[in-house]
Amino acid sequence: MENEIDTDAHRNGAVESPDSNHHTAKKPKLATLPISEPSILDEFSHHQRGVARINNGSFGSCPRSVLAAQTAWQLRFLQQPDDFFFNVLRPAILRSRTAIKDIINADHVDRVSLVDNATTAAAIVLQQISRRSAQGHFQPNDTVIMFHCAYQAVKKSIEAYVTPIGGSVVEVQLPFPVRSNEEIVSEFKKGLEKGKLNGGKVRLAIIDHITSMPSVVLPVRELIKICREQGVEQVFVDGAHAIGSVRVDVKEIGADFYVSNLYKWFFSPPSVAFLYCKNNSNDVHHPIVSQEYGKGLPFESAWVGMRDYSPQLVVPSILEFVNRFEGGIDGIMKRNHDGVVKMGSMLKESWGTVLGSPPEMCASMIMVGLPSRLCVKSDDDALRLRSYLRVYHAIEVLVYYQALRNDDRDPRDKDGFITGYVRISHQIYNTVDDYHRLKTAINQLLDDGKVCSGLLKE
Ligand SMILES: Cc1ncc(COP(=O)(O)O)c(C=O)c1O
Repeated sequence: MENEIDTDAHRNGAVESPDSNHHTAKKPKLATLPISEPSILDEFSHHQRGVARINNGSFGSCPRSVLAAQTAWQLRFLQQPDDFFFNVLRPAILRSRTAIKDIINADHVDRVSLVDNATTAAAIVLQQISRRSAQGHFQPNDTVIMFHCAYQAVKKSIEAYVTPIGGSVVEVQLPFPVRSNEEIVSEFKKGLEKGKLNGGKVRLAIIDHITSMPSVVLPVRELIKICREQGVEQVFVDGAHAIGSVRVDVKEIGADFYVSNLYKWFFSPPSVAFLYCKNNSNDVHHPIVSQEYGKGLPFESAWVGMRDYSPQLVVPSILEFVNRFEGGIDGIMKRNHDGVVKMGSMLKESWGTVLGSPPEMCASMIMVGLPSRLCVKSDDDALRLRSYLRVYHAIEVLVYYQALRNDDRDPRDKDGFITGYVRISHQIYNTVDDYHRLKTAINQLLDDGKVCSGLLKE
C-alpha cells in the first residue's frame, strides 16, 4: 500500500515543498552548537508577555520556525490546490509518518496513522470494539478495564461505544500520592481479577502512559505484560502526553494501539497525533468516512474531506527544530524533566508540602501539594484557585483536588491534611521566575488568610 504512495511521489517528479530537503528522519543531524537562550526566546516570542505559562501539558506550544513551515504549506496549497492535492499532500504526509515511525521504532510505516488528536484515536479504537460486538464477539460479563483517572473524553467514548453493547467497565483506583510502581501494579492486578469475575473476559485495557490529572508516569510495559499473561484481548495505550516527554518505543511497550499527541510536547501546531496499530487489521477505521474508506487506516486518516492538513506536514520541520538542541529531543526531555523536578522541589520546600510522586515517576509535569491552609476541599475549589491565579497573577497552571483516602498514606503538612495539588509543566521556554511567581502568589494567599472557597469564580 505504501509503495503506491512512494510510486506516486516518484512519478510526480521533484515536488518542491517546504520540507523537500527532509525525506527521512533516520539520521537526524544533532546540533554541534547548543541553541542559545535568545534563540529560544525568539522561537516563542509570540507567547503573551508577562504570563507564567506552566501548563504546557494542556495545550502544548509551537515554535515560530515550525509555524513558519506550517504557513508555507498552507500557501503551497493555496497557490495551486489541484496540484497540491494530487502531487504533494500524500507524499508529504508519508514523510511525516515515516519520521514518526523511526522515532517510535515501529516495524512499518503502515502501522502509523496521523489523526487530529487523542480523542479521535479513542473513537477509532472503541468503535472497533463496538463493531466486533455487533459481529457477536462480545459476551455478557465482558469488560473494559482502565484507571479511574483516564481522560474524560476516553471515558465518554466508552460510555458512547461500549456501554450500549452491554460491556461493563472496571475502574482501577490509581493510588495518589503514589510512592512506587508496585502500588500501581498491585491495584491493576486486583482490577483484572474483578474483570474476570463471573467468567467474563477483559476485552480491552486502556492504560495511560502519563496520566493527566493527577499526572504520573505509569509502568506501561509491566502493566501490558500482566495484561498478556492474564489473557486481556487488546491494549490501548493513551500516551497523549508522551512523545517529546518520555521515550516511546512501541515495540518494547507492546500495546495493540498507542496514541500520542504531537501538539503537547513535540512542538507541532494544533492539532495532530499519531496512532500506532500493532496489526494491520482491516476492522479499524477512521470515524469520518471519506472516499478513502477501506484502504487502511493510514489512508483513511490522510483524507477526511477538505480541510487544512498543514499540521500533519510539519514533522520534518519539528525535527529540524529539536535537533538544534544538544541531544535533540532526548536532550529536551532531560532538560524538562530535570527542570520540573527542581522547580517542584523548590515549591514543595517553600510550602512545606509533598510531591505527588517520586521524581522518577514523572516526565515533564509534576504534582506539588498545596498548603492545607488553602482548604482545597472540592473540584470547585480547585477551579476557583486556577482561575484566581490566571486572572490576578497571570499564571497558567492546573489545580487538582484529591479526596483523602483515610489511611496512613494521606499526606500532611504542619497544619493538616493536603488535599490540593498544582500540576506544573516544564517546557524549554520556561524560566525559574515562572515558578517563583506561583510560589509567591500562594504564599501571599496564606499571608492574607484566604481560603479557596472565598476566591471569586470567573
Ligand atoms: C491523558 C489524555 N488523554 C487524552 C487527551 C485528549 O487529548 P485531545 O484533546 O488532544 O484529544 C488528553 C488531553 O489533555 C489527555 O491528557
